[in-house]
Amino acid sequence: MTTARFPDGFLWGGATAANQIEGAYDEGGKGLSIQDVTPRGIMYDRVAGPTADNLKLEGIDFYHRYAEDIALFAEMGFTVFRFSIAWSRIFPNGDEDTPNEEGLAFYDRVLDELEKHGIEPLITLSHYETPLHLAERYDGWVNRDLIGFYERYARTCFERYGDRVKYWLTFNEINSVLHIPFGSGGINTPREELSRKDLYQAIHHELVASARVTRVAHEINPDLKVGCMVISMPIYPLTPDPDDVIAVMNADHANLMFSDVHTRGYYPGYAQRFFRENGIVLDITDQDREDLAHTVDFVSFSYYMSICESGDPQVKADGAGNIMGGVPNPTLAASEWGWQIDPKGLRIVLNQFWDRWQKPLFIVENGLGAKDQLVEVDGEMTVEDDYRIAYLNDHLVQVAEAIEDGVELWGYTTWGPIDLVSASTAQLSKRYGFIYVDRNDDGTGSLTRYKKRSFDWYAEVIRTNGASLEAREVLKV
Ligand code: BG6
Repeated sequence: MTTARFPDGFLWGGATAANQIEGAYDEGGKGLSIQDVTPRGIMYDRVAGPTADNLKLEGIDFYHRYAEDIALFAEMGFTVFRFSIAWSRIFPNGDEDTPNEEGLAFYDRVLDELEKHGIEPLITLSHYETPLHLAERYDGWVNRDLIGFYERYARTCFERYGDRVKYWLTFNEINSVLHIPFGSGGINTPREELSRKDLYQAIHHELVASARVTRVAHEINPDLKVGCMVISMPIYPLTPDPDDVIAVMNADHANLMFSDVHTRGYYPGYAQRFFRENGIVLDITDQDREDLAHTVDFVSFSYYMSICESGDPQVKADGAGNIMGGVPNPTLAASEWGWQIDPKGLRIVLNQFWDRWQKPLFIVENGLGAKDQLVEVDGEMTVEDDYRIAYLNDHLVQVAEAIEDGVELWGYTTWGPIDLVSASTAQLSKRYGFIYVDRNDDGTGSLTRYKKRSFDWYAEVIRTNGASLEAREVLKV
């Protein structure tokens, strides 16, 4: 047991994305999204159209099984559930004038179910699932027209659900556009053909769109809370050499610029210097500047790992990671997919973000992707996932430390509370859940749900508001 104290009303739950769970890719009037043509995952090239090997087309069939799944979340005591709306369910092509009623009605039903169980929804408007038509016809976010299409979509969602959904996120991991332009920004032009100017112009359009819909949300209902969402990754200097520390500073700037703009309402000096020195002249209108001034209510982020940086060009930055990699840390162990495990990094990042922005924070993704073995125990099928329990326990202990440090944190949602299709590799065998889903990488399986050992563990953490967590020495390499 720890002396961990999470504030009263702290929100506990899990997080998902439409394209990784819903399936039913062509049902209910849904249009194609960029995920329907990336069978190998968002890090890889697209293919011409939907193919049978794309696990996301069926996902875990949440579209038809949402009631059963939400009931299991409720059994664990969730007080919040983060999910995304598939943009292409609401506007199948993205550029229509009127929304698809069948798509809107689906999320009404999901919200009814959450309400029945007293679970607060937290909705991501855009989670790597730009309508494919917007990628093909407009080249995604490189095109300024996307701002208007996104605003229409967001307004539709706020007007429809704004009286029952308080918490909203504009773009999932917005800082990933730099690394996966198609997956994150719906940019159809191959990466190698994109100039830096193209990329930063696309980013600018997303930042403007995010700020503009934050204003729209507040106009529709001043009680709505709109947050940004970024990949957090503490970056450590490989050595005490000041050149390594400067390398860290530069890498931090590249990554934190997004939330700096979201929270301050303008581009910081270091970004302006970067644009100047790299000949990047962005098209920024007066209206854009006015829009950007509508800052977010809170900052949310994913946290899986940390990384190192070095000022020495000889040092290889070949460490795997959540979309971004870097120089591997010689002191840390890694997951089966090479992501280095660093619970203390979460405390560091919570403090860094709080100190930097003084905005309430929300951890909306954290978890361990691992290969699970379904076994029979006392006549029940389960997974003895002590490794997952250890990972989550150790991270949550550090969250408690950060709260003790004075960080204002609204809640914590683990990534993939139920097994889902991986974003980077499109595998189902990279499992994060408390609930096992019987589906395999070759698409076989009954889709039956089974509770893993971590299911009861997380239920107890929530029931005791964190008091059941165990402070213990964290294993390194
Ligand atoms: C984040 C994404 O990058 O990490 C999720 O927001 C993703 O969509 C999660 O699933 C875990 O990554 P992966 O590649 O293991 O699915």
